[in-house]
Amino acid sequence: MEQALKSFILALVMLTIVMSGAAYAGAPKDKPDKEGILIVAFGTSMPEAKKAIDNLVDSAKAAFPKTEVRLAYTSNIIRNKIAKEQNVLIPTPTSALAQMNDEGFTHVYVMPTHIIPGEEYDDLAGVVDGFASIKGKYSFKSLKLARPYLSCADDCDVMADVLIKRFGRELADKGTAIVLMGHGTPHHAANAMYSQLQLSLDKKAPGRFTLGTVEAAPEIDDVIARLKHNKAVRSLVISPLMIVAGDHANNDLADKEDPESWYSQLKDAGYKNIKPFLVGLGEDAEIAKIFVAKIKDMMK
Ligand code: CO
Repeated sequence: MEQALKSFILALVMLTIVMSGAAYAGAPKDKPDKEGILIVAFGTSMPEAKKAIDNLVDSAKAAFPKTEVRLAYTSNIIRNKIAKEQNVLIPTPTSALAQMNDEGFTHVYVMPTHIIPGEEYDDLAGVVDGFASIKGKYSFKSLKLARPYLSCADDCDVMADVLIKRFGRELADKGTAIVLMGHGTPHHAANAMYSQLQLSLDKKAPGRFTLGTVEAAPEIDDVIARLKHNKAVRSLVISPLMIVAGDHANNDLADKEDPESWYSQLKDAGYKNIKPFLVGLGEDAEIAKIFVAKIKDMMK
C-alpha cells in the first residue's frame, strides 16, 4: 500500500514536471506581440561621421513611431573605442538580439546599413540564423533580416538613379566626372556588385561615374585607367560610396598630405581640379527612403 502511494506521488511529480515543461515550450505563443527594429551598422567613432547613421536611425523612428528602434555595431574596435572615450556601450548584433529576447520582443526586424552582401553581412546573417533556429521559450515568433542596398541588378539601377540625383549639380558640367570609393570585400563574390553598379551608371550616365574600392577590386589604378578613356574630363568630384564618410573617406580617399590617397594619386595622374565630397550616403534623403522601404517590406 505504502509502495503504491509512493509510486502515485512520484507519478504526480513527474506529470507536474512534464506539464510545466510543456507550458514553458509553448510560452512564446502566449507572449503578447512586441515589435522591434534592430539597425546594424559597422559603426564609426567619428562624431561628425555618425550623422549618417543617426539619419537612418531617425528615419526609421519617424516612419515607425510605435516600434522601438535599436542600434548595434559590428566593429568591436569601434565599440571598444566608444566605450573607452565616450563611456557609451553599443551592443553587438548578438547581444542586442539576446537583450531584446530577454525584454519580451516577439517580432524583430534586423536592418543592415551595409552596401553589398559581403563578409560583414554574412557574419550578421549567421547571428540572425542562429537566433531564428532557437525553438521554445527563448525563440522569437518572427525574426527577419533585410538584404543590403546592392543585392541584385535592379538594386544597382535604383542606386544609380540615387547617385545621378545626388550629383546632379556636378554632372551638369560635362567636363566633370564623379569618382566613387566603395569599401570592397576581398575574396567574396558579392564584390562584383560594384561592377554591376558601374554597368547601371554607364547605362544611365555614360562616362560620368567611375567606381573603385579601397579594400578590393576595382582598385585606384583601374579607376585612373578608366578615367583616361574619357578625354573630356577636366575636373573630378571624389566621394565615398559608403554609408558613413569616416576614416576611409577622410584618409584613404581625400587626404591631400598622404601620397597614397586617391586624391594624391589622381593628382599625379594629371587631374588638377579635384573636389572631395565627403558626405556619407546615410545622410542622403533618398538612401534613407530606401532604408525605410526595406524595413516596411520585412514587416509585411
Ligand atoms: Co574598412
